[in-house]
Amino acid sequence: MTMKHLALLSLALAALSLTAGPVQASEDLAKKNGCAACHAPAKKVVGPSWHDVAAKYKGDAGAVDSLAGKVKAGGKGVWGNVAMPPQAKVSDADLKAIIAWALSQ
Ligand code: HEC
Repeated sequence: MTMKHLALLSLALAALSLTAGPVQASEDLAKKNGCAACHAPAKKVVGPSWHDVAAKYKGDAGAVDSLAGKVKAGGKGVWGNVAMPPQAKVSDADLKAIIAWALSQ
């Protein structure tokens, strides 16, 4: 491999880690705040998958704010009979980052 190829390769890797950065961070936030115990990106656990939540609120511009309020207060009856306990300890900044990420899944 020539030096030029090496330079191109490291540029490509840098670009990759840049695009992977924010996504990873929000997934980590979901773990840190305990959401991942009940929610996974692509399959139902205790709560709906992020993918299903994203599909349900697609096109709803106010979804991040309204869902943030619901998650803090707890929710029930939208997805079935299992309730989500109030998630009062998560900070608003973390919560909005997690929900915005979840809605992109
Ligand atoms: C103990 C399990 C549990 C934990 C922990 C949990 N959830 Fe949930 N979540 C649920 C269940 C169950 C539902 C479905 C509630 C319903 O049917 O209204 C739900 C629903 C949701 C919804 C959709 C709400 C709606 O009205 O459509 C969002 C968004 C959500 N959770 C985000 C989060 C976030 C963010 C966290 C972490 C801060 C979190 N959840 C932690 C179980 C959990």
